[in-house]
Formats: sequence, C-alpha cells, structure tokens
Amino acid sequence: MPGSLGPDFGGSVSAYLGAQDSKTLLRFITCGSVDDGKSTLIGRLLYDSKLIFEDQLATLENDSRKHGATGEDMDFALLVDGLEAEREQGITIDVAYRFFATDKRKFIVADTPGHEEYTRNTATGASTADLAVVLIDARKGVLQQTRRHSHIVSLLGIRSIVLAVNKIDLVDYDQAVFDSIVAGYIEFAEQLGFDEVRAIPMSARYGDNVSSRSAAMPWYQGPALIEHLETVAIADPVLDQPFRMPVQLVVRPDPDFRGFAGQIASGTVTVGDEVVVAKTGKSSRISAIVTADGNLESAREGQAVTLVLDDEVDVSRGNMLVAPDARPHVADQFQAHVIWFGEHALMPGRSYVLRTETDSTNATLTALKYSIDVNSLTHQASKQLEKNQIGVCNFATGSPLAFDAYRDNRTTGNFILVDRLTNATVGAGMIDHPLRRAGNVHWQSIDVTREARAGLKHQNPVVLWFTGLSGSGKSTIANLVEKRLHALGRHTVLLDGDNVRHGLNKDLGFTEADRVENIRRIAEVARLMTDAGLIVLVSFISPFRSERKLARDLMVPGEFIEIFVDTPIEECARRDPKGLYKKAFAGQLANFTGISSPYEEPETPELHLKTMGADPDSLALEIEDFLAKQGSRTNSKD
Ligand code: ADX
Repeated sequence: MPGSLGPDFGGSVSAYLGAQDSKTLLRFITCGSVDDGKSTLIGRLLYDSKLIFEDQLATLENDSRKHGATGEDMDFALLVDGLEAEREQGITIDVAYRFFATDKRKFIVADTPGHEEYTRNTATGASTADLAVVLIDARKGVLQQTRRHSHIVSLLGIRSIVLAVNKIDLVDYDQAVFDSIVAGYIEFAEQLGFDEVRAIPMSARYGDNVSSRSAAMPWYQGPALIEHLETVAIADPVLDQPFRMPVQLVVRPDPDFRGFAGQIASGTVTVGDEVVVAKTGKSSRISAIVTADGNLESAREGQAVTLVLDDEVDVSRGNMLVAPDARPHVADQFQAHVIWFGEHALMPGRSYVLRTETDSTNATLTALKYSIDVNSLTHQASKQLEKNQIGVCNFATGSPLAFDAYRDNRTTGNFILVDRLTNATVGAGMIDHPLRRAGNVHWQSIDVTREARAGLKHQNPVVLWFTGLSGSGKSTIANLVEKRLHALGRHTVLLDGDNVRHGLNKDLGFTEADRVENIRRIAEVARLMTDAGLIVLVSFISPFRSERKLARDLMVPGEFIEIFVDTPIEECARRDPKGLYKKAFAGQLANFTGISSPYEEPETPELHLKTMGADPDSLALEIEDFLAKQGSRTNSKD
C-alpha cells in the first residue's frame, strides 16, 4: 500500500540480504487469530534457522520465566512480540517484518496481527507478499477471522496459501481433526481463486512439521513448513510487465537539469527507450538514467531512479512515465474493491482524499454496488461500508488518475483513502476497471461567464452558510439578513433545509448517509447559484464538518462564509418551535441532531453567533457588518 512501502531495510539487514543475493527471496505473511500461535511459529522459524544471537537467547530465557505461557520451556512468542505492551495484553499490534534465510532461500515475513481491530495491518502486510500462512488453532478450526483474512489476501493478489493447522499436539495429533478442518477450509476457499492451498499439521511450540518432519504424525506424508517455503514456486511477475514509473518528484537542481524521480513500479527501461506521459499522452525518449551511484544504461522494477528525457515535456508529481505500447488507464471514475478500516462508515457522497503511489486527489463514492459477506462470500446490498467490511464501489475523483487494474499491477492498481479531517487512513482499494461513461461526459464551454452574470447584478456572489442545531435560529436570522440585502437591491436566494426537503431532497431522510447527500446536493446548488451571480443564504443543520468542508472547497475561494448559529441544546429544546425535541426525547424521532445524531461544531467559522441574550435583528446586523468589512463583496460595484 502507498505510504507503507514494506520492510525497512536497515543497514545490517540489507548487507545481510546482499550477501545472500544468489538465493531467491520469498515474501510471505502470517495471519491468524490471537492465540493461534503465530508469534510462536515465527519465533520457531527464526530460531531453527539459527538467526537468533546468543544475547537474544539469554534474554529470551529470562523473559520466558517472567511472562511466558509455556512453563519451563522457552516461549518463542516472546522473541517476536517485541513490545512490552503487547506482551502484557497478549496481542500483536503492528506489522513487523522479519528476515531469515536457509541454505536454499531467503525470506521476509510480515507478521501481521490477528486481532479483529487490525485488519488494516493484514492488508498492508499482504500487499507485497507472494504467499500467506493462514494459521488455525486445531482445537478451534476455521473461524470468521480465518475467512476474513483469506478473503483479504486473495483480494490483494496472493495466490499461494499454507494452511497451518497448529497446536495439533493439543488434539493428540489426530488425523481426523486435521482432515475435517482442511476439508472445511478448501470448500470455503474454492471461491477465492488460490492456485495452491498446502495444508500442514504442526505444533509450532514443539517444532513438529515446522523445520523438519514430525515423527508424531506418520499419517502425514507432506513437507514440513520450511521445506515447502523453500520450494514453492515464486512468480516473477513484474519484469515482463509494461514499464511504469509513478513520478515522485521533479528534480531541478539548476536550469540545465530536469529529471523525474521515482521508483520503477514494473518493467524495465533503457536509455533511448520511448516513454509516454500517462495523463497527457506526450511522448519523449530517455536520455539518461541517473542514480545516487552513477548513471545506468537500464533499470528495472523496484529501483529508485531519476529519468532524464530528451525534450522539455511537462510531467508533474503523481503523473506516470509509461511504455508507449501498453498504457495505463486514465480516468476520473472507476470501480474498485475496498477494505474499510474507518471508525466511521464509508458512505456515498462523502469526499475523501485518495492517494495512489504518488498521486493524490479528492474522491467520492458514487455507488456502493455491494458488500461481501466474509463467511459466505455472497454479495449483499448495502447503503454504507462499516469498519472491517469489504465492498465493491464506484468512485469519482476530483481529477483524472493514471492507473492499472490491480490484477494487472499491484503497485499502480492500489490506493488508500484518507479522512479529510483527521488524516487517518480509512480504507485500502484495489482498482477493478475504469468506468467508461466517464470518458463520454465533457465540460461544455459557456461564453457568458460567472463574472459577467454577477456584473449585470452589480454584486459579487457569496454563500452565507448557516449551520446549527434544529431550533437554534438559523432560518430566522437568515430570513432577516435576506430581507435587508433585498431592501438594498441585492439579488439573493435562500435555501432552507425544511423547504428543500419538500422538493429536490424529498427522497432523503436523516440517517448519516442521507444527511451527507443532502448537504452535497445543496453545496452543488449553492455553487451553481453563485455562478449565476447570486448571494446565496443556506440554512441547514449541516451537522458534519466533513460536508461543510466539502461545500467550502466547492466554492470559489473567499465566497464561502460559514456562520455558526450557536444556541445551547437546552435552549433549542425549550423553544422547540416544531415540537420535535419533545418527540425526540420521548423516543419517537430517530436520528435527531444533538440527541441521537451528532452535531460537530465548526472549529473556525467566519462568524460565530452566540444567540443567548442577543436578539435576531442585532445578529443579522452583525452579519451585514461582517460583509461590509469584507470589502465590496456584496456591495454594488459602481
Ligand atoms: S441536515 O442535518 O441534513 O442538514 P436539514 O437542515 O436538511 O438537516 O433539515 C433539518 C430540519 O428537518 C429540522 O429543522 C427539522 O425541522 C426537520 N427534522 C425532521 N427530523 C429531523 C431529525 N431527525 N433531525 C434533525 N432535524 C429533523
């Protein structure tokens, strides 16, 4: 996933890996539920491959006595559960990459947490892996979490699974238990499109079938885990794929040099090759491949390079240099699979920041086609995607993106979604395909400009956006302001929540998703009306910061005035002009703002009107004064 480019190749590690250069590298992840024995297994692998240094061993013996869950034996889990906090809680909470090697192969293992909360980390760990070890506690069998993780690793493109049926010692090495777990899993996994599921009965604690075959299970004829990992086929997928380099940085140290820096996502590039700028279609030739260690004749997937082109073509960060004969899609609408981690549901209409490897733009979910039940893998109609759910979604982006389908290219086909307000990563996406209709809708150019329309009215358009609880006085004040502006000869319009909900928005109710859509539409309408040259007064509860920000971002800078009509809820309830608070308190009105649905107060509104002890006329005057101070915004130009 972008922003988490995999293992941190510390100095000693890269030196170590360098020395092992002739061996192939297998990246794998382990996933399982808390207590399945994942950390013990990884500890065992590291221990058996003799990667633990003496001093670490000494610590381990000590720690085992302090914290261990294995009595007098060494607790291998303590070796990998590095964080003290984790030890105390008994869960693993971050993705950790571990390196080890055997005579035949070297390995990077992403140790992902099994706790339900940490689906995000599984997605992160899986995005670079070739194989997944899915751990199962033989006593518990296949759990919902097993299915979720298997589904995620399949979505992320992993085709090779090891089903590690662990703690087999605790079921007396019983073949029947093993066979029934395997049969159940195979039946479920059939729909996930794996090329190979290798089931291995094991005891990570005692080492059975981990690095060597166990004598305790004569009925099992297959390889031990490490033998399998050493020999499983690794696809070498990217070198023969078309060349892609997402541009990270335009390097311009002096006027004579301009290069485009980035990491090659797939394919190879050679000096003299023709390349195309994905979004503009402009083509050029590679005149030099520059790296920190000198110039190269050619470079390949995974290398960080600066490419110098023959002529002065325009390429900015987020664009991609690509092979001319196999170009990526460029579109502003596409379908994708999304794994949602956000505390708040993903919902249609809400705007998020979408980041690809190097690009970033706004994105809105235009349709949630369905969510996927992780147990049955069936499709379900859903209005929104809750935390830890997986869904298939259509997105529209603020500006066009260059991308591939995820199944064609894991690097250029993935994205993350970031919450606009908190900056938290809330989702991971795998693009399925562009939506063609996007290409058929174009902007029509119009000769009469918004300036011309406003000019005819002798005013500058502006949006006065009133937000506050129901009964706070928004509509009363907005009404007074409009009357005064009208008396001054201004061209105005007032959009009021209650009224608009009788017409344009009569299909919407008061769920979070409906309110998001309510405000999105009103923001669009307000924008159109400013284009018509009007002064627009908007009076909606508009309870969410995210949508008020969306509205602000939609307007021409400076044309959005947020007015917080601040009345304590007790006072709104006392006034109760429509009797709604009474109903809400009586439990007869669901999702009522301030009671059973949140109101997020503005943090930095242009105007903060405290209505307690103030009369509406003086508050209206305050707004008028503010507009006057803004300069000539709503004043006549002549
Ligand atoms: S918003 O939250 O989506 O911005 P909007 O301003 O359009 O709300 O509509 C709010 C008006 O709808 C209130 O003034 C009130 O008269 C009415 N209403 C009916 N049900 C509710 C409810 N559950 N929560 C808030 N307002 C409601």
